[in-house]
Amino acid sequence: MGMGSKVDGERDFQRVCHWLRERCGIDYRDNKRELLEHRMLRVCARARLGSMAELAERLEHGADNALQLAVLHGASTNHTYFYREPQVLEFFAQVIVPTLPRDARLWSAAASSGDEAYSVAMLACEALGADAATLAILGTDISAVMIEAAERGVYPAARVEALPPALRERYLQPCGDGQLRVREALRAMCTFRRLNLKATPLPFKRNFHVVFCRNVLYYFDRAQQRATVEAIYDVTEPGGWLLTSVTEPLRDLGTRWLPVQGGVYRKAG
Ligand SMILES: C[S@@+](CC[C@H](N)C(=O)[O-])C[C@H]1O[C@@H](n2cnc3c(N)ncnc32)[C@H](O)[C@@H]1O
Repeated sequence: MGMGSKVDGERDFQRVCHWLRERCGIDYRDNKRELLEHRMLRVCARARLGSMAELAERLEHGADNALQLAVLHGASTNHTYFYREPQVLEFFAQVIVPTLPRDARLWSAAASSGDEAYSVAMLACEALGADAATLAILGTDISAVMIEAAERGVYPAARVEALPPALRERYLQPCGDGQLRVREALRAMCTFRRLNLKATPLPFKRNFHVVFCRNVLYYFDRAQQRATVEAIYDVTEPGGWLLTSVTEPLRDLGTRWLPVQGGVYRKAG
């Protein structure tokens, strides 16, 4: 490969990055560059596009929906698992759940394959028993593939390893090939939809009491992080809660959220 084509290749890759940044706020750090390039080349191969230049071209001129979804899915890191970062989940179970109204609305805002939404549903059931059935849990993600996986609710055993065994027993059932299926009672509490967090204002008619927005902000540049958590503030009930990853502090972003403890924020009531 001559020097010229290398420079062209880099420029075309940057055009794809630009589209991702504009369209969904995904801002890859330099250390993830190779990973993203590799994934975009895979998208090209699957879509039978000859080069990164062709991909950039198609995106810039309004690519069809299937290609856009493939790029968005390819760019997102969907890593997640049940009972991730238990300190935040336990705060939710012990402090927040007992204060929730019967018809509370909960939202897992970057739900990936649903592990977080179902973990939240389990904790609510543990605390409230049959009364938890009146709660509504929404899980959303930009990736249609992940939303389908969340709706299926079937997981390999490795994904539930962090889950306390009692919860595993009560809420999951083996369904062959070492896979586990979320029980119907939990599935009935959870709904999944595709949603781009960058498309603000967020399209909800009714506010949420608790929003989980964990391990997604690091994709975004600071302006987008701020815009996202502010948009979430606007669709949260007064006195409602935002739970982030402890590795994604909001301090310095200048938002209206009041810090409570690591990964826990509250809207003024
Ligand atoms: C690492 S997973 C986090 C899953 C879960 N919240 C957790 O903490 O385990 C990040 C998810 O954010 C989604 N995502 C990335 N950009 C997004 C956007 N602009 N809007 C909605 N979801 C997005 C990705 O598709 C991915 O599934």
